[in-house]
Amino acid sequence: MSKVLVKNGRIVTAIDDYLGDILIENGRIDAIGRSLDVADAEVHDADGLLVMPGGIDAHVHMETPMGNGVETCDSFETGTRSAAFGGTTTIVDFAQQFKGDSPKAALERRLAAAEPQCNIDYGFHAILTDVHEQALSELPDMVNREGVSSFKLYMAYPDVLMVDDADIYRTMRKVGDHGGMVNLHAENGVVIQALIEEALAAGNTSPKYHQLTRPQLMEGEATHRVIRIAELAEVPVYIVHLSAREALEAVVEARDRGIHAFAETCPHYLFLDNSEYDRPGFDSAKFVMTPPLRDRECQEALWRGLRFDDLQVVSTDHCPFCFNEKAHGLLKSKQVGHDDFSKIPNGAPGVEFRLPLLFDGGVKGGRINLNRFVQLMSTAPAKMFGLFPRKGTIAVGSDADLVLFDANETHTLSAKTHHSNVDYSLFEGREVTGKVRKVFLRGELIVDGDQWLGRAGMGQFQKRSASGRVL
Ligand code: URP
Ligand code: ZN
Repeated sequence: MSKVLVKNGRIVTAIDDYLGDILIENGRIDAIGRSLDVADAEVHDADGLLVMPGGIDAHVHMETPMGNGVETCDSFETGTRSAAFGGTTTIVDFAQQFKGDSPKAALERRLAAAEPQCNIDYGFHAILTDVHEQALSELPDMVNREGVSSFKLYMAYPDVLMVDDADIYRTMRKVGDHGGMVNLHAENGVVIQALIEEALAAGNTSPKYHQLTRPQLMEGEATHRVIRIAELAEVPVYIVHLSAREALEAVVEARDRGIHAFAETCPHYLFLDNSEYDRPGFDSAKFVMTPPLRDRECQEALWRGLRFDDLQVVSTDHCPFCFNEKAHGLLKSKQVGHDDFSKIPNGAPGVEFRLPLLFDGGVKGGRINLNRFVQLMSTAPAKMFGLFPRKGTIAVGSDADLVLFDANETHTLSAKTHHSNVDYSLFEGREVTGKVRKVFLRGELIVDGDQWLGRAGMGQFQKRSASGRVL
């Protein structure tokens, strides 16, 4: 492969911030210096731009079946292209085991679907929904050979995805023995189910009841409970899509006692609040994701958590369903639940807007500094999920996944201009400062302004190491 030289940029990592040039050879960073001159290199001038490691989004759901034929509306191809335009060069999606299924078989299915399509690098967390002996026996190989070192369990959605506390404990012991990480969707699923049944019995079917039946207290309770189970099992635990103040308090309390509890939040919890559910008619179905949007106090608590490292990662939980059925059919749309909030597919889009939103609201907004921004977008997820130092930093020997970012360009977020299949945005019309100008994946320029230069299938599966050992 030819040499690529990125010159005159302001190189920003989770700890550094300096002017320099980056020489790329064979997809890796070969040298970093103050003034590099290489005769046969393709040169990109980054004067006036930030040069940061490519974003890592550790929580996305591309072409994911949700049961009853419902599926997210981005394929691996469209979803990863959209991610790339937003400065993300690696995603970690999910390989879901169905009841009676083998986790390895689930991984093989997802690998087969992803491989010809992905435009950026990718990995998978395994989802376990049926913790039988055979499934548990496959986990060591998943960690040590397959490069799947994190396992997601659900405390929500009884009879579909939920596993009980004993299964959580058993999985934690097995995964922990091999240095893996357990990710938890922490909500008290059975109490929430009772609340849903109560609401429906009273004739309350509109989307706002999604929020009213998933209270903050039940996220806090489940978060506290599962951290205690992890403490007993002596394994690190990672809480996905943390949204409620009560859940954050449980994480902070555990971390203060030296427990290895970690958590991510998502842009929608940082920038939006539960007043969105007051929208008239079915429009508020656009905001039906789990957990639901919370109050303003939670928002402030989450920002504080990011600032002081009570929260370590910001992922999108990109789980897109169109609002209108015309775009990609009823089964990829929110309209499935038009007459019953409990049938609205849970999930919201956002993979393209994570960097611009966090830069604008976080760095420009004075809530986090630039190094912390890089840490949240790239370095921390790389370390948390066994991709570091191949990914997540700018260093000699690391993959040349780079984002050239204009810190001063203002633009408007909109579904009219984004690259996802989804037909709406949670952030429609929001003006932000900070725009992705160029994106390199292992040294290849894949985004140049509005131009797409990537190729379906160029993304590579990333075998991840067992990060639970080193955290
Ligand atoms: O609403 C969400 N987060 N959808 C994805 C599935 C889940 O609940 O985690
Ligand atoms: Zn999710």
